[in-house]
Amino acid sequence: MTDVDWDRLHDAAVEVMRRAYAPYSHYPVGAAGLTDDGRLVVGCNVENAAYGVGLCAECGMVSSLHATGGGRLVAVACVDGSEEPVMPCGRCRQLLWENGGPTMLLRTPRGVVPMTEVLPDAFDDGDLGARS
Ligand code: THU
Repeated sequence: MTDVDWDRLHDAAVEVMRRAYAPYSHYPVGAAGLTDDGRLVVGCNVENAAYGVGLCAECGMVSSLHATGGGRLVAVACVDGSEEPVMPCGRCRQLLWENGGPTMLLRTPRGVVPMTEVLPDAFDDGDLGARS
């Protein structure tokens, strides 16, 4: 798959960002991903009074990926409350790597980049000796 409709991904990320539950940080985030079979999956951040257990938008998106049939992420856009691209936190970069791998494309504040630039020298299943 070479053609990615980034406007559609951005619009989906903005729409789900508006449903974020972020009463503590007041920093809503929306994430939208295109799967290798053409599905669109989304997630928003969901915070908690116990701050440390809050869920990032990417966590929700990855849960939706698996809940709706699995597969691989090929392109992802994340936005903040200003509808601008967000760089995923470190934990979420690891989540994206697990579910999209090195070729997954991410829309960032500096443009669209592959995961190899988002998470260089990533740890993954190959390091566990689990890759077939
Ligand atoms: N957040 C995300 O949802 N994704 C990220 O990649 C960065 C941070 C959320 C977590 C928290 O609810 C809020 O943004 C402020 O850190």
